[in-house]
Amino acid sequence: MGHTTIRFPNDQSMDNLVIRGGRPLQGTLAVSGSKNTALPLMSAALLTDGPVKLTNIPDLKDIHTFRRVIEVTGTRVDADPGSHSMVLDAGSLVRAEAPYELVKRMRASFYMLGALLGRMGEARVSLPGGCAWGPRPVDLHIEGMKALGATIDLDQGYVVAKAPGGRLRGGRMTLEPSSVGATINILLGASLASGSSVIENAAIEPDVVHFCTMLQAMGARIDGIGTRTLEIEGVDRLSPVDVANCPDRIEMGTFMIAAAIAGEPGSPVQITGGDADHLGDAFLEAFQRTGSTYEIDGDIMTVRAPEELRPVSIRTDIYPGFPTDLQAQWTVLMAKCAGNSKVHETVYPDRFKHIPELQRMGVNAIIVGDEVMIEGGKTIQGTSVMSTDLRASVSLVLAGMVAEGETHVLRVYHLDRGYERIEEKLAAAGIDIERVQYDEWADPG
Ligand code: EPZ
Repeated sequence: MGHTTIRFPNDQSMDNLVIRGGRPLQGTLAVSGSKNTALPLMSAALLTDGPVKLTNIPDLKDIHTFRRVIEVTGTRVDADPGSHSMVLDAGSLVRAEAPYELVKRMRASFYMLGALLGRMGEARVSLPGGCAWGPRPVDLHIEGMKALGATIDLDQGYVVAKAPGGRLRGGRMTLEPSSVGATINILLGASLASGSSVIENAAIEPDVVHFCTMLQAMGARIDGIGTRTLEIEGVDRLSPVDVANCPDRIEMGTFMIAAAIAGEPGSPVQITGGDADHLGDAFLEAFQRTGSTYEIDGDIMTVRAPEELRPVSIRTDIYPGFPTDLQAQWTVLMAKCAGNSKVHETVYPDRFKHIPELQRMGVNAIIVGDEVMIEGGKTIQGTSVMSTDLRASVSLVLAGMVAEGETHVLRVYHLDRGYERIEEKLAAAGIDIERVQYDEWADPG
């Protein structure tokens, strides 16, 4: 079946990825720096008035967007995507604002609320929109700022926050559910508050732990790092530091799944630069129960696919549970197994926008409430499919790798938000994949 791929010179309106399935994954895949850790590290730089150097920062759309959000405040950001490093100097911070046109593109921009309140005692930050799979509330973030003494008004889609007397005070907050973003925002506010704060049921994702160690290196006084109870003693000022970002655990898990479905049975696929501990035991144990194996030697993981993959049902949960950000990718792995399995999503309702697209590829997956029932072993057929959000789009790439024929994954700007040059990494590991320019509005198809 032919696909009409329109090639326009210099038209960046949309790219898509063209994948010709069936080629074995072999060789080495390098893990980039973590997107979800880099963003809080960038926010922390606003809490001090000198240059903060961050390394192992991935070259991603979300990072570029957040850099622009931060520059709106007057903070100077010198980024060198080629060397994956960035220097942020908030000595020139003059404007406590994060505008809608940027915040709507990347919801983690909402970290500006805690950073600006912590540093300036005021903030005017656009409420983030939802995202492709549904509402993403920020009520816990708002309650957290109120617990630190801030007054909060909503004005034409913006949160307008003020700390009486120009400085937040200590406070106590219990998070229900345990929220990564709210934990980070409250830490940003509490670190420079006058007095002590306690966060109960705090998130303990590796992103949060690494962020806390950066704040500590800047002079913040935080006890309980890595536990559900964080105690913070506010200080008067924080100092600049140089910090190395940690590797991206979700990219690492995505590559492990790629090796399990597309690696030659028994042949080694190497994944370098990752930290398996950041994946949590639930994912690692489920991965091994499929019959896939991995060995770790330093920062090199060697994965081998089994002769036959075994179906393993999973249930997502907060860390160290099975990461919700690997749920869509796991569904493709289950589609390759002979047998039935279930994927139960407990963190976000309806994070299943990839299922209709996978169904179009012949995957037998049915959504029942907050679960997906998968009957594996069916032939996966290449066709044109639509990206809807970051992790859904990478699951379509995985499916295309093991599909019969050609798959066109459209609107890969979703993918570019969180995966650095993934087509180059996969092509270098044997996959027939290329990026082509595409204008879907000109396509007569
Ligand atoms: C972070 O989002 C990640 N994003 C998400 O990754 C990830 O899926 C999520 O954590 C869970 O691990 C970044 O780190 C930038 P939450 P976050 O607050 O902080 C509810 C990706 O693909 N909640 O821990 O927004 C919320 O609805 C992205 O890289 C409230 O009810 O997630 C969810 O059910 C997608 N009120 C649960 O908490 C709030 O105020 C966990 O969300 C905040 C959250």
